[in-house]
Amino acid sequence: MSSPTTVPPDVFDLDHEQVVFCNDPATGLRAIVAIHSTALGPALGGTRFYPFSSTAAALNDVLDLSRGMTYKAALAGLDLGGGKAVIIGDPATAKSEPLLRAYGRFVQSLGGRYYTACDVGTYSPDMDVVARECSFVTGRSTSHGGAGDSSVLTAYGVFQGMRAAAEVAWGAPTLAGRTVGVAGVGKVGHHLVRLLVEDGASIVINDVSPAAVARVVGEHPDVRVFGSTDKLVASALDVYAPCALGGALTDEVVEVLSAKVICGAANNQLAHPGVEKALEERGILYAPDYCVNSGGLIQVADELEGFDFDRAKQRAGSIYDTTRDVFRLAAADGVPPAIAADRLAERRMRDVGRLRGVWLPAD
Ligand SMILES: NC(=O)c1ccc[n+]([C@@H]2O[C@H](COP(=O)([O-])OP(=O)(O)OC[C@H]3O[C@@H](n4cnc5c(N)ncnc54)[C@H](O)[C@@H]3O)[C@@H](O)[C@H]2O)c1
Repeated sequence: MSSPTTVPPDVFDLDHEQVVFCNDPATGLRAIVAIHSTALGPALGGTRFYPFSSTAAALNDVLDLSRGMTYKAALAGLDLGGGKAVIIGDPATAKSEPLLRAYGRFVQSLGGRYYTACDVGTYSPDMDVVARECSFVTGRSTSHGGAGDSSVLTAYGVFQGMRAAAEVAWGAPTLAGRTVGVAGVGKVGHHLVRLLVEDGASIVINDVSPAAVARVVGEHPDVRVFGSTDKLVASALDVYAPCALGGALTDEVVEVLSAKVICGAANNQLAHPGVEKALEERGILYAPDYCVNSGGLIQVADELEGFDFDRAKQRAGSIYDTTRDVFRLAAADGVPPAIAADRLAERRMRDVGRLRGVWLPAD
């Protein structure tokens, strides 16, 4: 999880709007909903069902994740704020219909300030159950009018971000003839490999799951496989695409990487503050994670209007332009792209968010 610390933060020292603890001993529900910002609209973010070691660890995670959602939605051009929820427990044993429905009633009690969706440990059929008690649910299964698996457009968005990075690095928005290393070929990574192969890239992969590797090699026999991420990272690459866990970009990885571009789906790729500067100093162009991996959020946000895949895909295609804007601002301001992405998101929150101050009779 993104935050290993178990010291409980003082939530009043942070900039979150609202943090809600939900306790239902009969079903075993222990959940925390964090609403970081509603400057641009209702907060949207998934529910992570995970056996956190402590309440403090869960709280730290949900506070970090909800802030990240604010920036992701703002940069993606959505009229949504940032929120996230965690349910403390092992989903394999603790998840039940009564627990999910109890959770749904708590989310309903927030009156639409927070919309929930899937995350680690929760799936579309779970959202269908939550939706039996709650109107503020997205990421439901297609049979319930939902957007279903968000990894399809997440991969599409990462591909568009990578095209924008290729244009800066090599002068043309294509990966044709480039070697791309995809670390993690799960739901997002395997779709990304397909898009890259279609574009004419050579692919190297690695994954700790032999089944995940076998699926990709079965579909694309020319893909080369490395036994570890360390070996993949140290190989001759043009692009590195972290698509497994967060924290992939450590000082050691920055040191050995031959790739000129980093662009992948994983959340929170920078292992610690300062890595973005080290990447810049080594001449490696980093496409900020939350900029390029917002396709899934765009997909589930579309469900709020009645899901239309083609419309959602078109919106996810705009990640190409957004990534270009980030690189342009980075060059103009002389800052790493990760800083430029934050500046663009904050600018939109300020400039669009202030319009709420123009009073309308319906407000
Ligand atoms: N699914 C989405 O729509 C979405 C949206 C935004 C961000 N993300 C992020 O993208 C990443 C991938 O998401 P996903 O939905 O494909 O998840 P997933 O669980 O389907 O795939 C992750 C893959 O990484 C592999 N993996 C795990 N640890 C590894 C390691 N140490 N080395 C190599 N491979 C390893 C797993 O075996 C798995 O195949 C995650 O960080 C996720 O938070 C996903």
